[in-house]
Amino acid sequence: MVSTREEMAGRLMIPLDYSDPAAARAMIEKLEGIPCYMKVGMQLFYAAGPDFVKELKARGYSVFLDVKMHDIPNTVRGGAESITRLGVDMFNVHASGGKAMMEAALEGAAKAVSQTPALQLPLIIAVTQLTSTSKEVMNSEIGIPGDVEATVVRYARLAAEAGLHGVVASPQESAAITAACGPQFRTVTPGIRPAGAALDDQSRVMTPGQAIRQGSHYLVVGRPITAAQDPRQAALNIIEEMIQA
Ligand code: C5P
Repeated sequence: MVSTREEMAGRLMIPLDYSDPAAARAMIEKLEGIPCYMKVGMQLFYAAGPDFVKELKARGYSVFLDVKMHDIPNTVRGGAESITRLGVDMFNVHASGGKAMMEAALEGAAKAVSQTPALQLPLIIAVTQLTSTSKEVMNSEIGIPGDVEATVVRYARLAAEAGLHGVVASPQESAAITAACGPQFRTVTPGIRPAGAALDDQSRVMTPGQAIRQGSHYLVVGRPITAAQDPRQAALNIIEEMIQA
C-alpha cells in the first residue's frame, strides 16, 4: 500500500535544470529518500543524454522527460519510440503540432512497449500555451485570437481527443481543463510558490495547497526547493502542505 505521504511525494516534480550532471547528482543527493518525480528538461538532456535518464531510473525515480517534441508526425513517432525505450514515466509534445502529430507520439510509444513487454506506456502530456506567452504575444505574433485560457482549454480538448493523458498548464487553468476533459486527464502545473516564497520570474502563481485543491495532478516546484538553504526540508514542507490540502 502506498501511503498518502508517498503518493503526494510522487506528485511533486523537481526540475533538474543543470547542464552538468554532477550538479544534478548533488541535488538528488540532497533529496535522498524522498520518492519525488524528477523532471529532466532540454538543458540536462542535451548535455547528459539518455545515460542520465537511465541512471535516474536505476536510482528508482519516476522521470518526466520534458523535451517538448514538435515536428512532423513521422519524426515525432520515431522520437516517442526512442524516448519510451529509455523507460521514462512521462514525456511531452506540443499540442500546436496538431492531432495527427499527438496520435503519432502515442503510436511510437505503443510500438516500443509492444516490442519490450517490460516497459509501461509512459504518460504523454501536451504543452498547451507556454506560460511565458502573454495574450498580446499570442494574438499579435503567433496569430491566435482570444484569451489564453480559451486556447489552453481548446488545446487540452484536442490532446484528449488524440488519446494523450494530460497537459502542462498553469494551476489557474487546472479546474477549467478538468471540467472540459474529465478528472482522469492529468494536469502538470509549474508556477507553484509556497506562501511568502520569492516569485522569481513566475507571475501567476499558486501555493502547493491551492494547486492540489484546484485539482492539479502533478506540481512542478523548482527554485523554492533547489535554491533553498535546505532543499530536503523545503521539499518535505511542500509535501506536508499537499497532504493537508
Ligand atoms: O523554479 P521554478 O519553480 O519556477 O521552476 C519551474 C520549472 O517548470 C522550470 O523547469 C521551468 O522550465 C518549468 N516550466 C515553467 N512554466 C511552464 C513550463 C515549464 O516554469 N509553462
